[in-house]
Amino acid sequence: MAGSAQVPGAPKTTFPLTPQSTLAVLLAIVRNPLEALPSSIFTEPVVFSKTAGEMKVYMADPALIHEALVKNAEAFGKGDQVRRALGPALGRGLLTADGAHWKWQRQSVAGGFRHDKLLELQPTMIAAAQRTRDRWIGAGDGTVDVSHEMMRTTFDIIVETMMSGGYGVDVDRVEKGISDFLKPTGWTFALGLLHAPDWIPYPGRGRAEAAVEFLRASLLSVIEERRKRPDDRQDLVNMLLSASDPETGRTMSDADIVDNLMTFITAGHETTALALAWTFGLLARRPEIERKVLDEIDAVTEGEPVNAEHVSKLVYTRQVFSEAMRLYPPAPIITRTALRDVQLGEYLIPAGTVLIVPIYAVHRHASLWPDPEAFDPDRFRPEAVKTRPRYAYMPFGAGPRVCIGNAFAVMEAVAILAVLLQKVRLATIEPEPPKPVMKVTLRPNQAQRMTLTLR
Ligand code: HEM
Repeated sequence: MAGSAQVPGAPKTTFPLTPQSTLAVLLAIVRNPLEALPSSIFTEPVVFSKTAGEMKVYMADPALIHEALVKNAEAFGKGDQVRRALGPALGRGLLTADGAHWKWQRQSVAGGFRHDKLLELQPTMIAAAQRTRDRWIGAGDGTVDVSHEMMRTTFDIIVETMMSGGYGVDVDRVEKGISDFLKPTGWTFALGLLHAPDWIPYPGRGRAEAAVEFLRASLLSVIEERRKRPDDRQDLVNMLLSASDPETGRTMSDADIVDNLMTFITAGHETTALALAWTFGLLARRPEIERKVLDEIDAVTEGEPVNAEHVSKLVYTRQVFSEAMRLYPPAPIITRTALRDVQLGEYLIPAGTVLIVPIYAVHRHASLWPDPEAFDPDRFRPEAVKTRPRYAYMPFGAGPRVCIGNAFAVMEAVAILAVLLQKVRLATIEPEPPKPVMKVTLRPNQAQRMTLTLR
């Protein structure tokens, strides 16, 4: 127990700690942070634990999540752990910044994600999916690595939509760069937990640093090019170039802009690509669900090529994608650090406490989801959604820090699924589905090779 004696009726300041060995947690974090989650968080609303002398609150109760991430959002910051793991690549861009610096960046780019703006981007999304489909149709041996293919497709989309083409940024090197950067993040989280000094070496550090240097240099050249030859395109690069802080009048330096381009490129393609790869894997193992998707695509498109008007009508396909993200949320854990003492439910959480919202566990929680491990897109029928607490499902987070690209991602994913499934059928090669491993995002533990037949 931590804290002092309890006054009746006052918020609780003592916490029922679940014992967790610091060493076991550290080893699990390095291997796969999902394994460091206390197992009781899949059945209990909240779990308190102390590792390396620091209290952590794991929250799976939707009402508590609402209190923390929505109602009291200003009482929390992203914390040192996040900045330590992601700061070297993303600096103080939108995902990693806090307070006023976060707010003006969010306001500066919000216009680019309004519904009307996204509708304009739909044809670009469909065209990218068609390029992938054509590449597949011409593929030699009839197999594809679906994770890699989805990374290429969503990367193509993010570069086209956010940077108007990207001026020859090398997709394969960027994908490898992002993987090299993410691979050792288990170490950065574990060392952060121990408050180890920043210079401590760990496996993969050199490669991760080289990757960041390459990625940031590639983006800097995009900005330099745009500063040299300005234009009036309505893309993210120009939004960032023309942003100014309403309070201070400050504009963004090249480093600020690189921080944000890095943020949007990494957060904006890898997550959607992983979710799509998991979706294809799930569909291939459930032919009756795949059949319903194919029937819907056929009914909506009437055999015509998928176009922008079809996408919003693919209701069941969207349910399938939502259910895939329930089982495999691309961002499986989000964390915050309390900036001040804050009351959450009946507890008074002291400043400095690390709050962990294990989206992966919320989405498989025994009290929120009947038969939680089963893949069942009917859970996302509109009538079924109404019966659940709002934050029982939160692949995009919640509150003011909710994913800015959430509608973009769903629109793009449904478009890609429709364009590809209309023409090809994917079948799994491996007898067992891949296991999810967290490397900031939720990745499969093995390449997802699938065989491909034309429809
Ligand atoms: C399936 C795809 C996606 C998933 C599951 C996802 C998930 C998330 C989550 C959970 C957060 C909140 C993190 C937190 O609260 O700590 C977030 C934030 C963010 N996401 Fe996404 N994301 C996806 C796609 C995208 C796309 C397509 C973009 C951009 C085009 C994007 C850009 C961002 C940015 C910039 C933030 C930081 C927002 C802020 O703090 O104001 N994401 N995302």
